[in-house]
Amino acid sequence: MAEEKKIPTHLAIILDGNGRWAKRRNLPRLMGHRAGLRKLEQMVRLVKREGIRYFSVYAFSTENWNRPAMEVTGLMSLFRYYIRRKVEEIKAEGGRVRFCGRKDRIPEDLLRQMKWAEDYTADENKIDFIICLNYGGRAEIIDAVNSLIADKPEAPVTEQDLRNHFYLPDVPDPDLIIRTSGELRLSNFWLWESAYSEYYFTDIHWPDFDEHELRKALDDYAGRERRYGGLKG
Ligand code: IPE
Ligand code: IPE
Ligand code: MG
Repeated sequence: MAEEKKIPTHLAIILDGNGRWAKRRNLPRLMGHRAGLRKLEQMVRLVKREGIRYFSVYAFSTENWNRPAMEVTGLMSLFRYYIRRKVEEIKAEGGRVRFCGRKDRIPEDLLRQMKWAEDYTADENKIDFIICLNYGGRAEIIDAVNSLIADKPEAPVTEQDLRNHFYLPDVPDPDLIIRTSGELRLSNFWLWESAYSEYYFTDIHWPDFDEHELRKALDDYAGRERRYGGLKG
């Protein structure tokens, strides 16, 4: 009997390269972001079809506020549009939409939409689609420490105590983290949670990432041996 293909329980993608994709076509950066979001719609379906239970994407980091105001405002508008137009489809696929990150600085109306999307899809259980928006790994750890201190100020603190105060404590650590567009770094994504993640890097810009590229990454993952500090199994 053929061995069953190993698939990640939690797939995470750092959606990078929208700007370069646009530049290469002499388009404004925001057009790249728009193309990137469109790509995301297809990807949720494809990822679900692969049998992956948790799919998280890095859409906006705590550091991305440092970009020109016009790009930040444009991105926030694209997020509004995406939620308004796409959450219905995600729900129809059995997708539960969840946001992960700091709530400060996000415009009030967008926050309300995010809350609506979460409530509206709360009962879906085929795939958790996690959008990391205003997310930073260091911010998450600091926020967890502060809420832990408020909750249980006495030492000693365990790993599990801290974990219980993360933004989404029930979500398992990412098994595979894909980063598009050639950069070989985490840029503050899933800092704590990535301790034993597998990484996959591709030069493809995010808007060009497709089913074929996803398969390649998943095939690569299936061939990896995870040892977690132990010995060959
Ligand atoms: C990723 O694309 C999307 C966000 C960070 C919001 P970039 O905007 O970082 O694209 P590049 O890296 O400039 O090509
Ligand atoms: C990481 O991409 C953040 C997101 C994809 C949301 P960046 O483009 O912001 O990262 P750096 O600046 O290249 O490290
Ligand atoms: Mg980038």
